[in-house]
Amino acid sequence: MKIHNFCAGPSILPSEVFDEASNAVKDLNGSGLSLLEISHRSHAFVEIMDEARDLSLELLGLSGNDYTSIFLQGGASSQFLMTAYNFLKNEAAFLDTGTWSKKAVIEAKLFGNVDVLASSENDNYNHIPNFEIAKNYDYFHCTSNNTIFGTQINSFPNTDTPMFCDMSSDIFSRALDFSKFDLIYAGAQKNLGPAGATLVVIKNDLLDKIKDNVPSMMNYKVHADKSSMFNTPPVFSVYVSMLNMRWLKKMGGVSEIEKLNRKKAQLLYSEIDLNPLFHGHAREVDRSIMNATFNLSDDNFKDSFETMLADAKITALSGHRSVGGYRASMYNAMSIDSVKVLVEVMSELESKI
Ligand SMILES: Cc1ncc(COP(=O)(O)O)c(C=O)c1O
Repeated sequence: MKIHNFCAGPSILPSEVFDEASNAVKDLNGSGLSLLEISHRSHAFVEIMDEARDLSLELLGLSGNDYTSIFLQGGASSQFLMTAYNFLKNEAAFLDTGTWSKKAVIEAKLFGNVDVLASSENDNYNHIPNFEIAKNYDYFHCTSNNTIFGTQINSFPNTDTPMFCDMSSDIFSRALDFSKFDLIYAGAQKNLGPAGATLVVIKNDLLDKIKDNVPSMMNYKVHADKSSMFNTPPVFSVYVSMLNMRWLKKMGGVSEIEKLNRKKAQLLYSEIDLNPLFHGHAREVDRSIMNATFNLSDDNFKDSFETMLADAKITALSGHRSVGGYRASMYNAMSIDSVKVLVEVMSELESKI
């Protein structure tokens, strides 16, 4: 029986990607060698890395000469400090929309001044606060999707300040004008691929504005100049990310998957809104189409609900401890059928009382 995995990350990938990945671990393209035992400098792997970098730009509509795509290690958390290490010369502006943006603020403060333009912390991050970029900063940093709280930024500012965005939990899930951003980063382990790689898409202009004396491993230009091969890259994660991006391209790309993602989210949010046993955490206008956070209105139903979830083979629906309740993560590879199963369980619970 199929397991419906709503895990927030590491998360599901398409089953055909898992199949191809496991074949490559045994024998990469009939070479008789495992993907895991060939040199990252071999022709076979350089081709994989190049395809991964090209596909990431193509899917974001950023192919051409303006942007470079880099695969790094260290997760999105390393980007919290790396962005500041490279570009925080005087003062940077931040939007505080949750745990991850707050962590980015903490790291940036080690390198310079930080101006938090707005925060929704006092409301347990249940919305995206209004903000204005009223002066010049080295850069403005935001988190497009708040994985823990289930909110998502719908409109990004038009600004002359370079805009940096942590897109770890909604990259490749919706069409945006990605050319508004000067630097985008994402840990792989949600819509991109297995944990281990971190994608950075950076505007080429910025590569010439990196501060002096940034150590090589922390320096975007070093990695860009070496086509993500300055040191041994996370080969498995890059390979599977490449397969997953091929899958997404075959599905019609970001704007096609967005239609499906919106259908899934709408199905679940309608149930949350109509079913008196549940209420959502995030304000309606700022709801995420990737991570829906909701609670039971009466905890007396907790045991019955969780037994029903287990019977329906629904897994990893627990909310993060800072929100409690439930969180349904509906990344690209999740089928609408899995969301339907969840909605059926929720409505069955209502019919039982
Ligand atoms: C939006 C966001 N940013 C950053 C992170 C941290 O990512 P990593 O574990 O790759 O450092 C996460 C992890 O879930 C996340 O959801």
